[in-house]
Amino acid sequence: VERIRLSPFPADAELEQLWIATWGQPPGFNFDAVLARSLLHVCAYFEDRLIGFLNVAWDGGEHGFLLDTSVHPDHRRQGIATRLIEAAVAQTKARGLTWLHVDYEPHLEPLYRRCGFRATQAGLIRLQEG
Ligand SMILES: CC(C)(COP(=O)(O)OP(=O)(O)OC[C@H]1O[C@@H](n2cnc3c(N)ncnc32)[C@H](O)[C@@H]1OP(=O)(O)O)[C@@H](O)C(=O)NCCC(=O)NCCS
Repeated sequence: VERIRLSPFPADAELEQLWIATWGQPPGFNFDAVLARSLLHVCAYFEDRLIGFLNVAWDGGEHGFLLDTSVHPDHRRQGIATRLIEAAVAQTKARGLTWLHVDYEPHLEPLYRRCGFRATQAGLIRLQEG
């Protein structure tokens, strides 16, 4: 049974393991620094093992930005990302923010749409090689 936890601050090594399984490479940044500045993060656990993660960054006002939705390959297509995203939406709303942003690749539009996001245009620049 998977369990969802709000902002449990997982150890750096745990997050790094999930990140490599999800994205195929090490994160290249320090999670402690990221989590210290975020509004909240949401984790999924299977038998006390971290199998899902997302982060909500915050501008200090009414905007949050959902980042890094990650589910371990062994646990996909079981609704875990949906539960992580729904928890992030509910918690961000409860914290009084007005807007929650996200961007994603085209094939994930149905996932985010089902969780309540409508599509907008957005922009992105890669500032460093890597
Ligand atoms: C994208 C990701 C987080 C989805 O996690 P998940 O737990 O499998 O997602 P869910 O089970 O909640 O999926 C719900 C729905 O989303 C859609 N979906 C999920 N993964 C999909 C994929 N790879 N391709 C197309 N649709 C997908 C489907 O509509 C799915 O419903 P279905 O299983 O009934 O078909 C996971 O595949 C992942 O970590 N991918 C690599 C990292 C990534 O791209 N993250 C997204 C950042 S925006």
